[in-house]
Amino acid sequence: MTDYRIAPSILSADFARLGEEVSAVIAAGADWIHFDVMDNHYVPNLTFGSMVCQALKPYATVPMDVHLMVEPVDAMIEAFARAGADIITFHPEATRHIDRSLSLIKDAGCRAGLVLNPATPVYVLEHVLDKLDVVLLMSVNPGFGGQSFIEQTLVKISQVRSLLDMYYGESGQRILLEVDGGIKADNIAAVAAAGADTFVAGSAIFGHADYAAQIAAMRAALAG
Ligand code: DX5
Ligand code: ZN
Repeated sequence: MTDYRIAPSILSADFARLGEEVSAVIAAGADWIHFDVMDNHYVPNLTFGSMVCQALKPYATVPMDVHLMVEPVDAMIEAFARAGADIITFHPEATRHIDRSLSLIKDAGCRAGLVLNPATPVYVLEHVLDKLDVVLLMSVNPGFGGQSFIEQTLVKISQVRSLLDMYYGESGQRILLEVDGGIKADNIAAVAAAGADTFVAGSAIFGHADYAAQIAAMRAALAG
């Protein structure tokens, strides 16, 4: 049986009450807190930086999953590692040296991951699998919460699942497969069936008053 993680994205939380929102969603059953960093350069939107991450760290009693949508990447890695990030992921298009950026994350003591946009080919993972703890597949184009799940992503999830299973067979190294964008209780089972084990959800959780009910509905869908 697969163990699943639900990672609420605080992009859809109330920014005026972020600490309380993090506590509330953890009390509601969040496994990770997904922290979307946007720079109005790599993506057309602007959110928060490492100082906000550091301020939220005391509230985050579960792993802090930092998704960097910034260019360039490397200086932000160091800042977020110091701010208390547990997992740091970035987009390969946003750095000139993918292997070096991954090493920076690992050397800082964090878990590392690459994020693939809907049209980014899977082969970018090929030569860096040994440095990956997580692969994050975008099921929307990055930049905004509340977009619709791109169905074509399901095929890509299966392809990456096969690659990661094959690599696990060869190396014994387990790499998580996280999916981000448009995930809701009514499609999470299909995303899991394609091979994902970790699910980011922003609007589907924070868009409703009862976070626990939303997370419970997702877990029920996962349990089949
Ligand atoms: C998009 C972000 C996502 C987003 C997901 O660029 O990376 O994490 O917050 O939001 P929903 O679940 O609303 O699609
Ligand atoms: Zn994200």
